[in-house]
Amino acid sequence: MIMHRRQFLTLSSATALYLFTGCSDGNTNGRQQTHMGPGMGPSGGNDASGSLPQTLKPLPIPQALRGTSFNLTIQQSQHEFFNGISTPTYGVNSSYLGPTLFLRNGSTVSIHFTNTINERVSIHGHGMHVPPSMDGNTHQEMAPGESWTAHYTVNQKASTNWYHSHTLHQTGSQVYKGLAGLIIVEDAQSDALNLPKRYGEDDIPLVLQDRKFNSDGSLNYTPNMRAIPFGYVGESFMANGAIEPLFHAEAKEIRFRILNGSNSTMYELGFSDGRSFKQIATDNSFLETPVTLNRLLLSPAERAEIVVDFSGDLGKELTLRDFRRNKTFVNISVSKNAASSTKVPSRLTTLQKLNPADATRTRVFNLEGKMGQGLVINGKSMDPNRIDERVPLNQVEIWEIHNRMHIDHNFHIHATHFMLLERNGSSNIPANERGFKDTIYIPGRGSVKLIVKMVDYADETIPYMYHCHFLEHEDNGMMGQFLVTNV
Ligand code: C2O
Ligand code: CU
Ligand code: CU
Repeated sequence: MIMHRRQFLTLSSATALYLFTGCSDGNTNGRQQTHMGPGMGPSGGNDASGSLPQTLKPLPIPQALRGTSFNLTIQQSQHEFFNGISTPTYGVNSSYLGPTLFLRNGSTVSIHFTNTINERVSIHGHGMHVPPSMDGNTHQEMAPGESWTAHYTVNQKASTNWYHSHTLHQTGSQVYKGLAGLIIVEDAQSDALNLPKRYGEDDIPLVLQDRKFNSDGSLNYTPNMRAIPFGYVGESFMANGAIEPLFHAEAKEIRFRILNGSNSTMYELGFSDGRSFKQIATDNSFLETPVTLNRLLLSPAERAEIVVDFSGDLGKELTLRDFRRNKTFVNISVSKNAASSTKVPSRLTTLQKLNPADATRTRVFNLEGKMGQGLVINGKSMDPNRIDERVPLNQVEIWEIHNRMHIDHNFHIHATHFMLLERNGSSNIPANERGFKDTIYIPGRGSVKLIVKMVDYADETIPYMYHCHFLEHEDNGMMGQFLVTNV
């Protein structure tokens, strides 16, 4: 179903009041629910997840593709989420989601996409530092039957990135059906660190999502006027396309490369036994030193690499969970002997930080609800024919993002790896947010200050995007475009 921003004109008065005056939180929840019919969650759309037949499946590991030339087919398919039920889906070379691309920093790659579905599609490399013509945003959409090749030299640090649909107004629905996958960049530094790196054995990709299903097993993507701002949360929590699967872990350090691949759900991750783990990487780089945590908050599109130590835990069973909704993502059984030994180093990298004193200007971005226009940035709804910002190459800038609403948002900048300077006016930022990032969480009424520098790729005509990565917000206007210009 296509969500047009026009639908905001019909926002219920209660929701509108909330959005535009930002009055209160909890109460509105309760009040809103009384408007729903039986079986309807607050985000609209029935969810029959609980009544469909399930058995415990092993954690799927997306196929690893290595090299410099990749052929990816965007296809219509069927995927078995529930026993004996074929759910219509989209996938990339696969029935749901797509392979993990391993790219080597410095190598020149060609990623050739063919669109065989009956909709326009663009596939964006999220976190990839590439020229705007290779970004895979709405300006590189493929019509049904068309192909497009992303051809570039990998030019960034080792990190876990991803690709996903970025089709104008259709990103939410196409990602929901399965158009996403991981891109892992490796370099000499990641080679040298004594970290778990046996893919699928002790180096485990986790694309975390939640989905709603109809009673016939089909995916139900029908966010209503409340779900668009507040989030469209399903009852089926899944990892790599399997609902609450089982992972047999070796009794050693295990690295999880976690992507919040949901459309619009915040995840507060941790293990059922409360154990601590080490976060070693943010969206686009290692952290300088591992950060010990027992809960990890990830907003949609953010990544974190963590290492958890199961040495001495042979025979233990636990789960990786979302503590906000108390749902299981992955069942873990520590049942295998360690096949290698690794040790997270106490120092991972040294990051070249930009100096705020070098900043040449400050840009301010207000994330707002606007009567009659829905969700906007600086009063404007996304227009692919309008350039909102012209950002000169090689200049240090401060970008201030203000969430003027009471609902959660985040902010993503294409092709750019920034650092967080301040949260809510304080420069005392959490230790696990001190790596390079491309997406930053901004809770209701919060603000962040980022230090940003556009490097390498200027283009006077083809823009990149910045936007909220809650996909229903993005699809409904909360996105803008910038050109990187030669000075
Ligand atoms: Cu993950 Cu503009 O996208
Ligand atoms: Cu992106
Ligand atoms: Cu948002």
